[in-house]
Amino acid sequence: MERRPPHASRSSAPGKIILFGEHAVVYGRPALAVPVTQVQATATVSATSRTGIWIEAPEIGLASELSRLAPFHPLAAVINRVFSALLLPVSPPIFFENGGGSGGATIHVSSTIPVASGLGSGAAVSVAIIRALSAFLGQPLPDECVSALAYEVEKLHHGTPSGIDNTVITYAKPVYFVKFPSPPGSGDGGEVQTFRVGVPFTIVIGDTGLSAPTKESVSDVHELWEADQPRWEKVFDEVGDIVQKARCAIETGNIPTLGPLMDKNHKLLQEMTVSCPELDRLVEAAHKSGALGAKLSGGGHGGNMIALVENEKASAVAEALMDAGSKRPIITQIR
Ligand code: MEV
Repeated sequence: MERRPPHASRSSAPGKIILFGEHAVVYGRPALAVPVTQVQATATVSATSRTGIWIEAPEIGLASELSRLAPFHPLAAVINRVFSALLLPVSPPIFFENGGGSGGATIHVSSTIPVASGLGSGAAVSVAIIRALSAFLGQPLPDECVSALAYEVEKLHHGTPSGIDNTVITYAKPVYFVKFPSPPGSGDGGEVQTFRVGVPFTIVIGDTGLSAPTKESVSDVHELWEADQPRWEKVFDEVGDIVQKARCAIETGNIPTLGPLMDKNHKLLQEMTVSCPELDRLVEAAHKSGALGAKLSGGGHGGNMIALVENEKASAVAEALMDAGSKRPIITQIR
């Protein structure tokens, strides 16, 4: 009688928000990002006696053999990269440990992170799959490799990402990130420092519900930059300065000074043309309901915004955001 392979492996990865520095980070300025654990992507890999890799992602209506997907399909791209990083052939049979026999695998993917909204859904799905699959294959990859592989996939889908999304999601800690110096968008990786949060603080995340691919807003900013580099380098320097001040305020627990810094960062993002009326309406509603500061977060043109609030005002600000058109606001503690 054929013995069933015994393995199953599961991994989850959080969403993320960028607190300060999006877009300028693509041009070598620092940015601050934190994980959002209220939303998660999860990958479960289980052994099957049938050879081949079967992928199930019910939320996007996908149930398919890996071999039937185009190689640039987001899930195929990440799975193929894991096999290649582990120097394993993509076409099974996979021989399981402990005399468990050989066969294939089913990879089940699910996520509560809204897609194309600035919360890092693509990077979180990649990180969850890389961890679950490499563990399933008996060679769990270290964080540096997980982040580097997720970055490869980010580049396929987002054009010229800085690498901040895969970094904060892999390490699941607050990060101060500076992309390695290179022509904008062309380099690999960046300097990652985790930073201390002196005093926990509360952020309300509002969602415009508008799906906004990061690739497009990054490319819009790139066009502006190409047309007038001195002007935009100056704007990016101003953002970099805000990020340094914000890091210092977070580390020393000087939370109230973060509000005006957020407002200033949002104005510069408006200047970069990546805000939109829906985001501006939510930012304004946050201010009117008592937030200390607010800004868009991520690529912009839709997606999410964040508001810094005193803990006791969080519910009121969340309600005001809903009245102004936000889908289910998330209240999160940064610690
Ligand atoms: C997207 O979360 C943040 C951007 O700065 C793009 C990037 O850093 O890759 C807009």
